Amino acid sequence: MSDILVLTGSPRKNGNTRMLASAFTEGAEAAGLDVQVIHTAELKIAPCQGCGYCQEHEGICIQRDDMAQIMPHLYSARTIVFATPVYYYAMTAQLKLALDRMYATLAKPPTIDSCILLAVYGDTDTTVPEALIHNYKVFTGYSGWKDLGIVTAEGVNDAGDIAGHPALDKARALGRSLQSFFHKS
Ligand SMILES: Cc1cc2nc3c(=O)[nH]c(=O)nc-3n(C[C@H](O)[C@H](O)[C@H](O)COP(=O)(O)O)c2cc1C
Repeated sequence: MSDILVLTGSPRKNGNTRMLASAFTEGAEAAGLDVQVIHTAELKIAPCQGCGYCQEHEGICIQRDDMAQIMPHLYSARTIVFATPVYYYAMTAQLKLALDRMYATLAKPPTIDSCILLAVYGDTDTTVPEALIHNYKVFTGYSGWKDLGIVTAEGVNDAGDIAGHPALDKARALGRSLQSFFHKS
């Protein structure tokens, strides 16, 4: 099983989010780490129903769907990476569906202890991801996960616009830097 779980949130297969996530993955793999990338937009994940069944059944959700492809990695990986475009100042609905279903892990603690945020957006105003970053910080803080880094790429609208953006090198370097986190702690 993997050291790092990357969840991407964009529906665009050749989009900027996946390119940023790939740069991060390249760096982490070069550091000898095992990375599992899952594209939430390619899965059928139903919204959490808030029924509480998982809390009474050791983290098993009453709904049977593609969330089953993500859950095992929450019990083997140490770091989770949220990679998303900014959609209306937030993560995409596709990624949020998976996040809400992680509510089940309150009943059975996951192996995740750390997290990373990768985000892309069209605007050149660098305050645009602030609400997303605040949301990431509060939900990961609540989960007790250590923030290992945030990389954002502004001014990327069309798929592929991120080519040559400095954020790619930053994401690659962040991936590579995890070697010390995994091997020294
Ligand atoms: C529904 C929707 C909402 C968006 N909302 C924002 C936004 O609030 N701020 C922004 O700067 N860009 C916004 N964008 C632009 C995307 O963040 C941008 O095109 C990004 O590069 C898409 O990433 P992708 O190529 O990985 O799909 C939005 C795009 C869509 C389709």
